[in-house]
Formats: sequence, structure tokens, C-alpha cells
Amino acid sequence: MPLRQPQLLIRPLVLGLHPYVPGEQPKIKGLIKLNTNENPYPPSPKVLAATRAAVDGRLRLYPNPTAQRLREKLARLHHCRPENIIVGNGSDELLALAVRAFVEPKAGRASHPSRAGETSGLRSSRSLVQFFTPSYSLYPVLANIHGAAWNAVPLGTDFTIPSLAELKRARRWDFRAALSLVTTPNAPSGCGYRIAQLDDLCDAQKGGVVLDEAYVDFANENALALALKYPHVLVARTFSKAYSLCFQRVGYCVGHPDLIAALHKIRDSYNVNGLGQVAALATLDDLPHYRANFGKIIATRERLSRELAALGFQVFPSQTNFILVRPPRFSAEVWLEKLRGRKILVRWFNDPAVHDYLRITIGTPAEAAALVRAVRAEG
Ligand SMILES: Cc1ncc(COP(=O)(O)O)c(C=O)c1O
Repeated sequence: MPLRQPQLLIRPLVLGLHPYVPGEQPKIKGLIKLNTNENPYPPSPKVLAATRAAVDGRLRLYPNPTAQRLREKLARLHHCRPENIIVGNGSDELLALAVRAFVEPKAGRASHPSRAGETSGLRSSRSLVQFFTPSYSLYPVLANIHGAAWNAVPLGTDFTIPSLAELKRARRWDFRAALSLVTTPNAPSGCGYRIAQLDDLCDAQKGGVVLDEAYVDFANENALALALKYPHVLVARTFSKAYSLCFQRVGYCVGHPDLIAALHKIRDSYNVNGLGQVAALATLDDLPHYRANFGKIIATRERLSRELAALGFQVFPSQTNFILVRPPRFSAEVWLEKLRGRKILVRWFNDPAVHDYLRITIGTPAEAAALVRAVRAEG
């Protein structure tokens, strides 16, 4: 019997991959967790009751394979048809599906992703995943998994999106890229973009565009109309952040029926678990409850921003449920440890684009007050 060496069974591309690093889910109790943009408020009592009531003998059955009722309800909410909607195991799954549906893997690619798939010089737009930097750190990982190239184009000063004229002048943005992923409002900067500017960008783009609106419920504007206006644009949404359902993993995409049909073809047969479908449906029946929560989170965000600014932090304006700050006196990495020592977990990215900053999720008013006390105590 020949020796089967696991390392030889694995594709070189997979051997060379660096996985996405999720924010820490701490094992110790009593930490104030402001590191993964979860909602500080629980799902509504109606959502909890509906989910509990679904824990019965039907757990032995497969869930609806297309999340039919949820797609119908979402279609009514967004004034479109169920054919315009696909539901996923979180919006992360849908981002991965979009890469697989739109982007050709690189032909005859090297056996290992170099600084993974980052492009230089010659490249084929058909194999290109494109995004601004800093934005969601999952995007290059998805491109690498797929064996695609990626193009990370720097945002402007204070993390604003460059204008079309600037993008054309700088010649780094590829208007023919197979897939462009735009986080709007942006993460980790929190910066909100004008829909008119996104409209211009979509209009100029020849390949597919996903507008990733994971945080849009905390923003001034949303781009849903662009997914219904353009045949090459998808909007991705999630129940994780604004609707307190990270645990259940439900996200969705809105777009042209042909694009949506392509994503349906390549998803898992039962990609959205049954309890997730029940919880998301009940959420849509209780939207006023959640809108009240958005208001509370936005009020806490604005107050915390003012208080940290008064303590010497540079705070970027946010249209999300987190803020990006540049701390005074010590490096961001040192602050991360100092706050952890005071049982407060925030996020620091070891990435040159945001190395000097901390991303702080907006918690309850009591959690925000505890953060301010901890900062003062270190000052
Ligand atoms: C910009 C962005 N898009 C998508 C997601 C994924 O959300 P989901 O929980 O729906 O997979 C996140 C989660 O952190 C995010 O920050």
C-alpha cells in the first residue's frame, strides 16, 4: 500500500492559501465585545418566539431549498420580484458565489498564490476581482481561493471613494474587471458614499459589480435602486448586523433575474438553514422594533465619537455600527492590549492601510461609557 501523504493530496493553490481571519470570539466571560460589529441588542421577542416555536419535529426535514417565503417577503419589501432575490448562508456566501459566477480563474496560474493574486503589469480583466482598499478583508481571500487575480485600489483622503475622473486619471482601476466589490458604507472606515457617485461608477463599469451593503441600515442612503436599474449590478445585504442575527447566517442579494439565476445554479441545494429562514421571516414582520434599535445605535455612535474626539482620538465620521479611530499617545496595537487589559475587546488590523487605527463596534450606552472610562484611566 503506497503511503498517502496528505500534503500531496491537496492542490498547490490550497496549500498556499491564507484563510480569512475572523474577529476573536473570546472564551473568557465578562469581556465587553466591540470587535466584530455584532448588534448589542438581542433579536426582538417576536423573532425569538418564532424561532423557538420552530424547534420541533420538523428539524428532521430539509428546509425550503430556495427560501421561497423569505424571497417573496423581501421582494415585497424592495418592490421587486422573488426572481430578483437569492438568499445565502450569510452574505459572505453570496460574495463567494459572485466570484465563482463572474470571474474566470487565471489560466496556467502559478502553483502558489504570490502576494496572493495581487496583479502587476499584464493581466486579464476576465480573471480580475477588484475592490478599494481598505475595505472588507474577505475580498482578496475569495479571489485567492478561486485562483483569480485581484486589484486593490486605494481610497482617497479620509477614505472617500475617488471620483470617476480621478479613477480614470490614475489608471489603476480596471473598468473591465470581471467583478468589482464595493463596500458601501465602507468597512472598516465607516465612510458613507453618495449614491450618485456609485451610480456613475456602476454606469462606467463593464463587468459585474457587487455593492456590499452589510451596514446600510445605519447609513443615510442606500443603493438598492442601482441593482434594479442595471443588469450587471447586485446589492448584497445581511440580517447579521442591523437585525441581530449573526448566529443564524442569513444574507441576500438583489439584482437582475439572469444574474440571480446564475448564483442559484452554483449554490448548495439547501444553503439557508430552516431556523435561519424562520428567524429572518419573523424579523421582516417586526421592522419597527429594529428601526428603533438603529436609532439607539446611531445616537450612541455620535455620542461616543464626540467623547473620544474630546479625549484626543481622531474619529472618522461613520454611517455604520462602528467607528474607525486613530488613538493618541500610543500606537493602535498598544491601545488594543491596554483595552483588553481592561476587559474591552476592539479590532486592530495588521494591514498597512489601517495599521494606525482601531475599529470599535458601537455597543450599548453602558458599554460605550465603560470604554470612555477605560480610555480616561489609561490617559
Ligand atoms: C462588509 C461586509 N460584508 C459582508 C459581511 C458578512 O456578513 P454575513 O454575516 O452576512 O456573512 C461582513 C461581516 O463582517 C462585512 O463586514
